[in-house]
Amino acid sequence: MTDEVLVVAGAVLDGGRLLLAQRDRPAELAGLWELPGGKVEPGESPAQALVRELCEELDVSVSVGDSLAGVVRPKPGLTLVAMRATIVSGTVRAVEHRALRWVDADGLSELIQTGSMVPNDLAWARELMGELQVR
Ligand code: CDP
Repeated sequence: MTDEVLVVAGAVLDGGRLLLAQRDRPAELAGLWELPGGKVEPGESPAQALVRELCEELDVSVSVGDSLAGVVRPKPGLTLVAMRATIVSGTVRAVEHRALRWVDADGLSELIQTGSMVPNDLAWARELMGELQVR
């Protein structure tokens, strides 16, 4: 028996832009921007969970690539990883989020500097900044 929760978030990149999703819940995170994703369910791989979550949350099919370096452990029993994902069919829409936006390096930098990112996601945001900047 384990009560370890693993959350997988998607770094969806397209044409030099990163997809961010604005949370609608819980109250303390509402309005902040994150990489969309969710909990890995029993029997799923992280990649399978990400495909399911992005279908549920964004209404698109994705193919999953490699993991980002950052692994976040915000509290005991909770681990967050992020994986690259590419949209293979559909157009993103905010099914569960308040809004979606595609950001370039400047857009991401502004969200980081204004404290508008979900705190856990800063590990990946900084990593992704470098990637957006080299393009
Ligand atoms: O969709 P599901 O209910 O499976 O998961 P969630 O509520 O979106 O996320 C599960 C946990 O991971 C919550 O504590 C979120 O705040 C956290 N999370 C995060 O910190 N950063 C993300 N990009 C996604 C989730």
